[in-house]
Amino acid sequence: MPSMLTKHLIAVAAALACSTSFAANLADKHNAMGGCTTCHAVANVTPASVADDERDLNARCTMCHGSYEKLANKKLRFDPHASHLGNINCTSCHSVHSKPRLVCNDCHSFDMKMPLDNGKRAKGVEGKIDQKAVEKALANAPRETVDVLVIGAGSAGMNAAISAKRAGAKVLLLEKHAFSGGNSMLAAGGYNAVGTPQQAKKGIKDTVDSYVLDTLKGGRGKNDPKLVRILAEESAAGVKWLEDMGADMNDLKRSGGAKVDRTHRPTGGKSVGPHIVDVLRAQAEKDGVAPRYNSRAVRLILDKDYKIAGAIVHGKHSGYYKVAAKAVVLATGGFGMNKDMIKVYRPTFVGMTSSNNVTSTGDGVQMALQIGASMTDIDWVQAHPTVGKASRILISETVRGVGAIMVNNKGARFVNELTTRDRASDAILHQPGRSAWLVFDQSLYSSAKMVRGYGHLGMLKKADSVAELAKLCGMDVKTLTETVKRYNTYRANGKDTEFGRPDMPLAVAKAPFYAVAVAPGIHHTMGGVAITPESEVLDIQSRPIPGLYAAGEVTGGVHGFNRLGGNAVADTVVFGRRSGERAAKYALGK
Ligand code: FUM
Repeated sequence: MPSMLTKHLIAVAAALACSTSFAANLADKHNAMGGCTTCHAVANVTPASVADDERDLNARCTMCHGSYEKLANKKLRFDPHASHLGNINCTSCHSVHSKPRLVCNDCHSFDMKMPLDNGKRAKGVEGKIDQKAVEKALANAPRETVDVLVIGAGSAGMNAAISAKRAGAKVLLLEKHAFSGGNSMLAAGGYNAVGTPQQAKKGIKDTVDSYVLDTLKGGRGKNDPKLVRILAEESAAGVKWLEDMGADMNDLKRSGGAKVDRTHRPTGGKSVGPHIVDVLRAQAEKDGVAPRYNSRAVRLILDKDYKIAGAIVHGKHSGYYKVAAKAVVLATGGFGMNKDMIKVYRPTFVGMTSSNNVTSTGDGVQMALQIGASMTDIDWVQAHPTVGKASRILISETVRGVGAIMVNNKGARFVNELTTRDRASDAILHQPGRSAWLVFDQSLYSSAKMVRGYGHLGMLKKADSVAELAKLCGMDVKTLTETVKRYNTYRANGKDTEFGRPDMPLAVAKAPFYAVAVAPGIHHTMGGVAITPESEVLDIQSRPIPGLYAAGEVTGGVHGFNRLGGNAVADTVVFGRRSGERAAKYALGK
């Protein structure tokens, strides 16, 4: 007797053999193979009977087609999942009853065809909130009840959910997008931590005080010093926590504004964000707190005593419903992709590109504002100095950290490349064309994996000599040649007498030479909901709102007016863990 899978495969093969080449969408195509049950477990499918996270549906995709890795390795020249998407739902891109949505093009502009692709760029992930439906859901009984509801499945949210679950709470983790990761998934640089075995192995002398001082200096002294101390003190434990889940944090380098090498990342200089998101995603799954995808929290609920009571959620298939929760953790990220909020809070950045994920739309800030939460430093938005010019691709600060120099369109250096981001961005905006070039050589290219990624994306200019490179980039040949020569002398002498760059790990000496055009782009929103050291959200009288916690980019206070590279990932892990644990204790009455 053939198994159900065998029967199904026979049906698929038969249908493929005789199917017409025309189908409006994947559902039509699959329907021709065996009706609704080709994809759904039941024949009579109603939209509401499809789970919002589309888990079952995706299990059936891979049952017939095999895992993504197998498919991609055969069919694609580059595998986006290997770079930063990880093991995500097939239906993230391959919408079934409508045209496919190439989520890569939320940030890129790949000329890539998917089956039944209509070639249009993907639209954002959110629709307008139906306030009437929200009110109706509010009046209804909760569809489910949990101890801790975590909103947002980036690093902060996944850390919070795992911590809360391990503290004994019943947890629900929501993610509005079709896959997890948020801005964390795009984090390139690393995770700042002090007192790790990695630092000891390299003989790096670092202290919590030094980490705190660098962070306060970077934030222009406007950070909440208590939050900064927690960040530094708990940073090494956070690295260990990730390593215990299987993360590789063995590479160590320096980010702008740091006195020593304390930025941890995977071996070979791979991007940190996608790696830890993969690790956390797998751990969340193992711990029974896998994100519920396509599920956006739209309203926080308070009870009559002004304590948190849950949230109204919009599920892709199930519509609006109420989740009752004793505690809620906001881990919704920043608002770097919300043009209206940028217009209000940082009008001088209107029109600037952004390195952020499309999910960074400030949901958490808006929901918290609605219930009277207090905001801190909300108008401080960070422009990262080196976003690929005319793109949304971040050229990591670590490229400068490991040796690249930065020159203007003429070929002259103009700033200490390792200064803080606000100063570097400001310096670029004062150069001709409001843009600059990072220049480096083959030694850097072969040592930093992420740089090869920029090559794959067609962002690098390459030449056999510095003079050729200058020509290729439209710089002045003499100026760039002299700039490189002078820089190499500073390096040999151990002192940059022009700009005071504190660390020059590599010369620009080994052909071929490379350059990438960069300009500042919105990268991080430093401000957000005000929190206590226990991660509790404060109201406008600066009292904690009982049961409401927050972590990561949705909060303000940790980074002051300017965040240091490597401190965001640390923030999401340290305060993600803390908020989850504190929320669980509160919910369980401990
Ligand atoms: O430039 C970067 O790699 C960014 C790091 C960060 O924002 O922490």
